[in-house]
Amino acid sequence: MPLLCFASPKGGVGKTTLAANVADALRRSGRRVLAIDTDPQNTLRLHFGVPLSDSAGFMADLPKRPDWRMAVRQTASGVLLLTHGAMELRGALGLNAALERDPELLAAPLRAMLADPGLLVIADTPPGPSHALAIMAPMAALVVTILQAEAISAALIPDIDSGRFLGSGTMAALYAGRLRVVLNEVDLASRLSRAAADAVARHLGPRLLGAVTRDETLAEALASQRLVMDLAPESRASEDIREIAQAIEAALPSAPDATFPLAGWGAR
Ligand SMILES: Nc1ncnc2c1ncn2[C@@H]1O[C@H](COP(=O)(O)OP(=O)(O)OP(=O)(O)O)[C@@H](O)[C@H]1O
Ligand SMILES: [Mg+2]
Repeated sequence: MPLLCFASPKGGVGKTTLAANVADALRRSGRRVLAIDTDPQNTLRLHFGVPLSDSAGFMADLPKRPDWRMAVRQTASGVLLLTHGAMELRGALGLNAALERDPELLAAPLRAMLADPGLLVIADTPPGPSHALAIMAPMAALVVTILQAEAISAALIPDIDSGRFLGSGTMAALYAGRLRVVLNEVDLASRLSRAAADAVARHLGPRLLGAVTRDETLAEALASQRLVMDLAPESRASEDIREIAQAIEAALPSAPDATFPLAGWGAR
């Protein structure tokens, strides 16, 4: 049922890496998980072992209104996957225009996915604002925003606070309540990284779900097209990702103490 959107105002901060590996961690803890790639970079699939040459995808076909059930791939991890599909510039611009004209192209299949009570849907999004994020944010139980533990993150805090990065005015205020943050690439050996992490943690309080260390095993896992818990289950990164998955479980509306009066608001 719940939708988690992995997003960030900034590119290259670890959205795709964390979306894939958190999906795997939640699957390992017993959830049925569907991961959907809404970024034309089409890279989420690489974490799940889909060959580079396999360029077919669900999002690329959206204007033809494909049946998402037929497009779902079963991956070795057990996570179900909807790839984006490879697109040239013209195709990507065309898809953007189609989503702007007709948001139901994506909203309708997503509603069908979310109607399955046992399914947790994790969406990877392109960096910054996108039509896909604008369509999904109102349906999301949580928007998991990735920030790097570096100086620039402090400058992004006002955007996170106001929810501005998800829209403006009342819409931003509505989404802001569902916004959670994960700090990525924390380097405990770096004074600056530690200071940035401390500042962000103090400011965000309970909106901070957790932090992931800078750990090359995450990049190595991607290079070998595997998930980090498969490649290096005892690594620091694996440990951090398991903790993030637990924090997400605790923050989801189905958890006993969590109250999310607005969850699913836009989907009705
Ligand atoms: N905690 C980490 N430690 C070390 N390397 C990391 C970590 N997180 C991500 N990386 C590496 O950083 C690079 C960017 O990660 P990723 O592609 O997940 O970012 P992204 O936010 O999805 O980028 P984009 O905005 O282009 O979609 C990758 O090479 C990835 O392996
Ligand atoms: Mg990405």
